Amino acid sequence: MVEILIFGGQTITIKKVIEMEAGMDYITIKEASDRWGLSVRRIQTLCSEEQIAGAIRFSGVWAIPNIAKKPVDHRVKTGKYIKSKENYVTPILKWAGGKTQLLPEILPRMPETYNRYIEPFVGGGALFFRLNSPKSIIADSNPELINMYRVVAEDCDKVIESLEKYKNEEDLFYKVRAKDWTECDEVEAAARMIYLNRTCFNGLYRLNRKGQFNTPFGRYKNPTICNEEKIRAASEVLQNAEIVCGDYLDVLKKYAKKNDFVFLDPPYVPISEYADFKRYTKEQFYEEDQVNLANEVHRLVKIGCKVMLTNSNHPLVHELYGKYKIEVIQTKRNINRNGDKRNGEDVIVTTY
Ligand SMILES: C[S@@+](CC[C@H](N)C(=O)[O-])C[C@H]1O[C@@H](n2cnc3c(N)ncnc32)[C@H](O)[C@@H]1O
Repeated sequence: MVEILIFGGQTITIKKVIEMEAGMDYITIKEASDRWGLSVRRIQTLCSEEQIAGAIRFSGVWAIPNIAKKPVDHRVKTGKYIKSKENYVTPILKWAGGKTQLLPEILPRMPETYNRYIEPFVGGGALFFRLNSPKSIIADSNPELINMYRVVAEDCDKVIESLEKYKNEEDLFYKVRAKDWTECDEVEAAARMIYLNRTCFNGLYRLNRKGQFNTPFGRYKNPTICNEEKIRAASEVLQNAEIVCGDYLDVLKKYAKKNDFVFLDPPYVPISEYADFKRYTKEQFYEEDQVNLANEVHRLVKIGCKVMLTNSNHPLVHELYGKYKIEVIQTKRNINRNGDKRNGEDVIVTTY
């Protein structure tokens, strides 16, 4: 009896083949690449993103059903993703340091397989919403943000209804801004946060020393305050996630387990004296925190997690993560008042 088969240049046991759906005929990634005119790497990414129905992976090799149709590839030739309302869920909020622009760099660097998706500095959650992973844990130390996500998950109808009352008017903006969110009911607090985010200057979440939101009115002509379709889509993704409020260290110690994928997008190490990536919450993120974070990454790697981290292209980041793969990525954030080129560069660290 034949004990092994050769598939895609690798040997696999008969038992594995039997585990594949009975009677289904499979092709290799190379064959799919020739058939569809897409690169092998691109097809691997599409398989990992579950965009090829029925594709399965065993012994490190992808097998694609012979009957699979060519997947719709949402990238244009420059490597940027085409915005696609039907297929991708996008963040509800604009968020400083949001990763939407960096997704074309992040997605191809994701691990091919993982168990749960854990993002403990979730902010606007660009990658979380884009992936829509079935088993996700998201967290942030900002309680107002976490309240908003929980309420959108549980009761998006009420949030939408409440948001429809708001208008892009300066007087109203300052009246709403003056309210203390902790004294509003949960739905009102969530709607207030979305309203202020859509109408304030640059969507900046900035608190004063007393912890009060103090970003000024944005003076936009016609901002979308209530994007019902977007909120409903986000609500569905959030319903599949565990949503936690807390410090990233507590969250990771409690939840991260072997084979989980941990995406870390902390407040960046500031590059110039003008950079201000610290003021998200009353608590700030200092150099000491960057060191603690790197130690936590080492612990996660030891217990078998796959970790991806983004940060600025700063010598401290290279020093802390020198033993992993560090790739420098050009970004559009290039306001270099002091002419420092690194201001337009991020790094992506991967440990796998
Ligand atoms: C750069 S933002 C994340 C942006 C996000 N990836 C996106 O696409 O919008 C960093 C986030 O970390 C949160 N944060 C800061 N210090 C934290 C801490 N000690 N524990 C957990 N979250 C923290 C902030 O509230 C902020 O939302």
